[in-house]
Parts: sequence; C-alpha cells; structure tokens
Amino acid sequence: MDKLRITGQRVLQGVVQASGAKNAALPLMAAALLTAERVHLHNAPQLMDVRTLAKLLRSLGVRVEQEGGDIHLDAAAVNHFEASYDLVKTMRASILVLGPLLARFGQARVSLPGGCAIGARPVDQHIKGLQALGAQIEVEHGYIVARVSTPSGRLRGARITTDMVTVTGTENLMMAAALAEGETLIDNAAREPEIIDLANLLRGMGAQISGDGSSQIRIQGVQSLQGVEHRIIPDRIEVGTFLCAALATRGDITVQGAEPTHQDALLDKLREAGAHIDTGADWIRLRADALPGGRPRAVSVRTTEYPGFATDMQAQFMAVNCLADGAARMTETIFENRFMHVQELVRLGAQIDIDGHTCVVRGVPQLSGANVMATDLRASAGLVVAGLAAEGQTQIDRIYHLDRGYDAMEVKLRELGADIERIKTSPGG
Ligand code: UD1
Repeated sequence: MDKLRITGQRVLQGVVQASGAKNAALPLMAAALLTAERVHLHNAPQLMDVRTLAKLLRSLGVRVEQEGGDIHLDAAAVNHFEASYDLVKTMRASILVLGPLLARFGQARVSLPGGCAIGARPVDQHIKGLQALGAQIEVEHGYIVARVSTPSGRLRGARITTDMVTVTGTENLMMAAALAEGETLIDNAAREPEIIDLANLLRGMGAQISGDGSSQIRIQGVQSLQGVEHRIIPDRIEVGTFLCAALATRGDITVQGAEPTHQDALLDKLREAGAHIDTGADWIRLRADALPGGRPRAVSVRTTEYPGFATDMQAQFMAVNCLADGAARMTETIFENRFMHVQELVRLGAQIDIDGHTCVVRGVPQLSGANVMATDLRASAGLVVAGLAAEGQTQIDRIYHLDRGYDAMEVKLRELGADIERIKTSPGG
C-alpha cells in the first residue's frame, strides 16, 4: 500500500489546474446506460472511483474507453444487469447504475452497499423513490432485485418526496424518471452543482427536465434518449482542498479551471479566516501571505447540503482551524461518523474535543509531523493539508483512500512547491 511522505512548512505558491468533478463524472458515466448511442465526456478526472465505475459498466456490457480526460461510453450491447458486491462495497456510488438499468432494461440486481467508514449510509430513499415510479423491489441475499412489470414495461412518472436530501438518490431518480411514462416531480431534491451537470447532460440526450438547482425537479419522461458530448464541471472539493492547503501554509495560489460560483460557502469561510480571495470567470486566487498576526482566524463551521458548507470540505477546513488563532466549533450534520481524522490530527499536535456531532478545535501555533493513517477519502485530504503545514515530516499511510478521489494530487502539490512524495510499496506491503 502506497504512502505519502510530506516535509511540511513549504509555502504553497503558483498556479494549479483543477480536474473535473469526481461526483459529477460518476452519475454522468452511469447515465450512458440510458441510451444505445455513444456518450462522450470531456474533462474527466483520472482517479480510482472513475476506474471502478468503468469496470462495473464494462461488466454490464458497456464499451468504455478513457484517453486522458476523455471518456467514451457505448451502452448499445448491455447484456448483464448486475452490480456485484465486490464492486459496490469498494464504491457506494455504484448504486447509480440502479435507476438507469431499471429505466432502460426493466431489470437490475445491485448489491446493497453495506456500512462504510463514515456511517451507515443506507439507500432506502433510492428504493422508495424507484418503487413510487412503479418498480417492484425485493432485497434478497444482500442484493436489491428490481423489476418493472407495468403493462408497457416502462416506469411511470410519480410525485416523490425524499425523507432527506440525498445527492445520489436524487440522481438515480432523475435518470430513472427521464425514460418513464409521464411526469415525475422530485421534492426535497438535492441542489448540488453536480445535479445540474447531470440535468444538463440528460437534456443534451433529449430528456425534458426543469427545476434542477432548486429543491423541486420536474421531469417529463421520453421514450428514448440519444448520444451526447459533454464537458464535466470542475471538482469544487479538489479546488477547496488546494485553497485550504494554501491558507494553512500561508501561501498564494491560483486555481485555474475552477468555477467560483460553486464555492460561495467555502470562500466566505476562507475570507472570515483572513484569506484574501480574488475570482475570475474560471479561476480563484487565495493569498494568505500577509495574515494579520501571521495565523488564520478560527472560524466555526456547520456542514449542510448545498449551497451550505460541504461535508466533503469539513476535514480539510478542520486542518486549517487546527492552526488558527482562537477556537472554532465544527458541526457535522450530514454523516454520523465523520470525525475519524480527529485522532490523527491530534497525533500531529492538534487540540480537538469531540462532543457528539460537534468538535471544538483550539488552534495551536504549530503542528508537528508524525505518522498518521488515512481512514476515508476526505479525512485523508485533511491530513495532507495538516501535513503540509506541520513542522517536520508527516507520513500518511493507506492513501488508497486519497487515490479514490483525487487526480494526481501529489504531482499538483509539488508544482505548488510542496515537498511531498509517494512511497511505493509492493502489494500487501
Ligand atoms: C454524495 C457524494 C459525497 C458527499 C455526499 C453528501 C457522490 C458520488 N458522493 O454521497 O461525496 O459526501 O453526497 O454531500 O456524489 N441517506 C439515507 N438514505 C438514502 C440516502 C441517503 O439515509 O437512501 C442519508 C445518508 O446516510 C447521509 C445523508 O442521507 O446521512 C446524505 O447522503 P447522500 O446525499 O445520499 O450521500 P451520497 O449521495 O452517498
């Protein structure tokens, strides 16, 4: 298992290019199942979750080719309708094939994801919504077994209100409803930019969707969808991670290829912490080289659904707060068990108390490098930010979590002046 070795306190400076969004690429790839024509995606990130979904789609009979940032998908010859436990357990987003398979082929068998490091994360809302669209669903031997047995063989539009805001749940239902008979209304829908990106792709394929970006999405089902060419939106979490790293190291960086309007909640918090932020149409510059008192200010944060502060940025922002002047409260409202980075940050000298869903972070003037372990994707990113700012050497173990969701992270950080290297170890080592 590879490790990262970071020698901290190098000030990040320069220009870095954002990759396409992982959380947009995954639903867009799954949407290719909805048509027998070709789907071409541009600006795709090169990372493990994308490769995992490509593998799953291939196992269904989809032709998938990735050349750099281009992914070509051809689902003309799908002949298999099962997503196996082995694939779904490594990536929960595999559930995204359920809606499209059911809508186009009238059948799907998808493993239940089971627990993951950041909580139970059930998929009951996906199931409930698809049942409302007329699917018959049983859970057998750990698999969701779904069928459409309406006279027409198509799902039928319905009014669905999800119990909570769910991103992939909304995406699954949008994809299923796009090919259903009649109109679907999804209430309490997620409003993330990745939802809008999926709606844009589906509209390009001929779907009739409105209201995306609001909490009520209206979909008029169509009989079939066509091929499309589409550019994936920038990864706002990757961008945010670089910005936090720049603030933690008191740097001055510009992220190119970003979409500043997707980052409002984070940019406000970074400004509150004392960073100077400038934005253009597709770039964000953060300057933290002249912080008053030389340290960021502690800033309290509460994670919520978009457009609030993203749970996927909580660990990275916590790393900044660890070094801040003052104390901050950080409250996690989306996932029940998303503070696993805390004990690792404490190993780096951070002062953090956990009380249920809230952490109180008391900033210290300096962190000190240590060996730490990555526990999930964004927790790992938080450790990288902390390691970059810490005095001395930090070694992060189990970075396969990081590789799931970041495209060449250490290469990009090196371009910004970080002293970071990957230590390759043999399999099992
Ligand atoms: C997506 C993102 C992930 C992000 C999360 C929250 C992708 C591929 N992943 O994950 O990076 O952290 O949104 O912004 O886009 N829930 C249920 N039942 C359901 C569905 C969800 O109880 O059927 C709960 C979850 O356990 C969680 C909350 O709802 O507590 C939000 O989860 P959800 O928005 O579904 O997260 P994902 O779509 O899995």
